[in-house]
Amino acid sequence: IKLGVLISGSGTNLQALIDAIAAGKLDASIELVVSSRPSAYGLKRAEAAGIQTLTLSKEIYADPIVADEVIATELRRAGVDYVLMAGYMRMVHDPILASFPNRVVNIHPALLPSFKGAHAIQDAFDYGVKVTGVTVHFANSDYDCGPIIAQRPVEVEEGWTVDQLEVRIHEVEHQIYPHVAQLLAEGRVHVREDGHVVIDQV
Ligand code: GRF
Repeated sequence: IKLGVLISGSGTNLQALIDAIAAGKLDASIELVVSSRPSAYGLKRAEAAGIQTLTLSKEIYADPIVADEVIATELRRAGVDYVLMAGYMRMVHDPILASFPNRVVNIHPALLPSFKGAHAIQDAFDYGVKVTGVTVHFANSDYDCGPIIAQRPVEVEEGWTVDQLEVRIHEVEHQIYPHVAQLLAEGRVHVREDGHVVIDQV
């Protein structure tokens, strides 16, 4: 399958996907990386891997619908099957969602529906939870909502700092996202009528 990846920052999840493809663990190609920030380090990762990039300026997001029309057009032009959000700090709107129904995926560093939002790791840590984790889900027009594809728990060990929790969360992210992408590549992920995701077992 052909992937488009949306980023805003360091792009370590993008790197995990690039590495999984290179290692033969993910039958996919990344056709386009879209960044909402010109300074995103993930753009360098994409360029180093020879992947085409598109960077949108702050100005174009003055109208998010216009921005998403541009993005959707470029993703379609690139022949993308699935759009993976990887640290993309923007909502996706109808121009993208309608072009890729049940084909836009997000990764979130908590066990949804707990700790939505941009500070999920810190929020879970501050709350004092003993278990948090990582969620991969289809994106819809609500923030950090949409059918859950996969979740992995992470135990918060006694005495951990938030930084230690963050390291572990990212390790788990870098395992689960290529894994889910491979499930998508194998055509094994389906959204049922009730909105729940089922994964074909092999
Ligand atoms: C990840 O923790 C992801 O779950 C969240 O933003 C972070 C992105 O990290 N949505 P990176 O840019 O992939 O390194």
